[in-house]
Amino acid sequence: MTYQIAIDGPSSSGKSTVAQIIAKRLGITYIDTGAMYRAVTVAVLEEDININNDEEIKKLLNDIEIQFKWVNDQQHIYLGSKDVTEEIRSTEVTSNVSEVSAIKEVRELLVDLQREIASNNSVAMDGRDIGTVVLPNADYKFFFTADARVRAQRRYEENKAQGRLDQTLEELTELIIKRDEYDSNREISPLKKAEDATVIDSTNMTIEEMVESVLSLIKH
Ligand code: DC
Repeated sequence: MTYQIAIDGPSSSGKSTVAQIIAKRLGITYIDTGAMYRAVTVAVLEEDININNDEEIKKLLNDIEIQFKWVNDQQHIYLGSKDVTEEIRSTEVTSNVSEVSAIKEVRELLVDLQREIASNNSVAMDGRDIGTVVLPNADYKFFFTADARVRAQRRYEENKAQGRLDQTLEELTELIIKRDEYDSNREISPLKKAEDATVIDSTNMTIEEMVESVLSLIKH
């Protein structure tokens, strides 16, 4: 029998790192749904789509294909035949992804895809609406939170490690707060804790502590 673990929370709350590690330890599939919204954003920017034009959006969504593939033991995301794993983390994509992910048709397409993957595989899926909308009957639900300043610091370190230093810590903090606000207040599937989710405040936790707090509740 397959089982599902839903992990939601704002950006840099630790959810993706933890979802990835627990999926590996449990031998199940990891799905980064944020990466899917980011891949659609790459397509929107590449094709120079006007996101307020329904027809343009519909046509784009009809034409694109998003897939996860394993490359050298790492999960990569493809837009058609193009590996966009690095591109989806660019500042330009990050600045536009909230708006793209608020489009109804985009969410419908990706939610369908996410449900389909979860129906055939045991998954640890992370995002904003997994426990509330995508997999409301998930066997396990977690909601990660952390202080905005700590999250900005994490993002800063991540960027630094990848040689991306185009934003200061202050700018990142501001952006994170803005994006949280946007993601939490949008009309469709806002970032929200599912009633039955376990909250993990990761502000003062190490990654291993976060992983342990999740794994200690998994009985599969
Ligand atoms: O987790 P992330 O920063 O890669 O997510 C990128 C954006 O995608 C974020 O601004 C919110 C959106 N998103 C969403 O709306 N629903 C999801 N399930 C996952 C991400």
